[in-house]
Amino acid sequence: MDYDPAPSSAGSFPWTDPRRGRLLMHRAATPRGIIGLVTSSAISGRDPLVRRADVDDAPALVRLRAVMFDAMGIPAGGADAAWRTAAEAWFRAQLEQPACFAAFVVDDPLLGVVSAACGILDARAPGPRGLGVVRGHVFSIATDSPRRRRGHARACLTALVAWFRLDTGAETVELSATSDGVELYTSLGFRERAHPTMRLGLSAPTETFL
Ligand SMILES: CC(C)(COP(=O)(O)OP(=O)(O)OC[C@H]1O[C@@H](n2cnc3c(N)ncnc32)[C@H](O)[C@@H]1OP(=O)(O)O)[C@@H](O)C(=O)NCCC(=O)NCCS
Repeated sequence: MDYDPAPSSAGSFPWTDPRRGRLLMHRAATPRGIIGLVTSSAISGRDPLVRRADVDDAPALVRLRAVMFDAMGIPAGGADAAWRTAAEAWFRAQLEQPACFAAFVVDDPLLGVVSAACGILDARAPGPRGLGVVRGHVFSIATDSPRRRRGHARACLTALVAWFRLDTGAETVELSATSDGVELYTSLGFRERAHPTMRLGLSAPTETFL
């Protein structure tokens, strides 16, 4: 993605996606008073309208997180699963920390929130490839099955990357990719790292967490 990080004027910036042609993204107030991102083709009805999530979206973020787990072959359990309550409280708390957490969502006129991408900052020790200690982490990307392949996840993730780029001090952004997501992430510039990420389970056997 060819991206010009310098704002062309206060509140708007140019953005080019070679796969979709040149789009102009503008910061805009949504009906819920949230600052959202609108593409020029969204205005013409071809692309989804993305907005930044607020605390009222916590249940939707949990629901879509369950969609992601199910797609990954990790049974998410029913509506009363304990993790959902804990996750909703966690998302609510994060959504009240807009400097270090953001989620972008797409609303469907019939179904409500149908797609989301979440991002959070963490701190790392400086190294020779960057003095910055802030790193972005992308997670919980999912779109409801009936609304897939309409550009919703792309729109959410593009807005999230713009947030990392423009509103945080992050030097890099990372994610763990499922096979469904690899093509999208690659098209947005993500690349596999030279060294694999490994994981050790401490509260249960490591295999539980792979
Ligand atoms: C991956 C996922 C989020 C994509 O959502 P989406 O809204 O359908 O994605 P988009 O319509 O924005 O597609 C963007 C691009 O991703 C790629 N893509 C999307 N779904 C794909 C699939 N099933 N297989 C391969 N590539 C896919 C395509 O390159 C697509 O671009 P194109 O439609 O122009 O060809 C969705 O399939 C999903 O929720 N999967 C289950 C959960 C999951 O795996 N989440 C990712 C966790 S890392």
